[in-house]
Amino acid sequence: MRRPLVAGNWKMNGTRASVAELIEALRLQDFPAGVEVAVFPSSLHLTQVVSGLQGRAIAVGAQDCAAEAGFGALTGEESASQLVDAGASWVLVGHSERRLIMGESDEVVSKKFVAALACGMTPALCLGETLEQRQAGQTLEVVGRQLASVLAGAGVAAFEKAVVAYEPVWAIGTGLTATPQQAQEVHAAIREQLAREDRRIADGVRILYGGSVKAENAAELFEMQDIDGGLIGGASLKANDFGAICRAA
Ligand code: G3P
Repeated sequence: MRRPLVAGNWKMNGTRASVAELIEALRLQDFPAGVEVAVFPSSLHLTQVVSGLQGRAIAVGAQDCAAEAGFGALTGEESASQLVDAGASWVLVGHSERRLIMGESDEVVSKKFVAALACGMTPALCLGETLEQRQAGQTLEVVGRQLASVLAGAGVAAFEKAVVAYEPVWAIGTGLTATPQQAQEVHAAIREQLAREDRRIADGVRILYGGSVKAENAAELFEMQDIDGGLIGGASLKANDFGAICRAA
């Protein structure tokens, strides 16, 4: 039985003042014991969130990390080692906004995945297709390619300590949520691709859905066999909405 996981990706949002308010509101939320909860603030606010959530069972992660695990001459980058030092235990890798806007290749995503594991962090590998790719019937091919790149770089054993997030690009921030059936189809394909390498690991990997998850639609998504929780963007910036989504898991 996979423990449900709900994670909030705060993206490029927040000031120290607004983050302090969100922390206080999250501390007041009633999160169900059976659901794992994590939040991913801007790295500028990592230490503030880690200290602010002390004593609450809410993990804190980073939204990205450098492809190099250690330290060195890489201006503007934050290594997995530095993020762990700041208190992060999770990290998102391959979010579509970094693939499409920042030009991150499958190879770079794979290196980041490996770097995160090397420093003891749990990577959440983000996969997803664009609207054009879905309309062209290429969804499973695109997601399969993205996953295959990390399997080639890290090996299937690495997924024992990783999470996968399916986030159709056309559903991110648009209010156009994938139907439970659309999401389930891709989640099942992801799990089957992992199973071709190792059935036990595949059955244990949590696969999250992300893309316009709201309190109103979370339950029907999370009911699906291969949807093990959600990666939440906009709704995670409102503690009550995020708490409601966690309670739906
Ligand atoms: O990483 C989660 C994010 O991409 C989903 O965003 O605002 O559609 O929930 P949103």
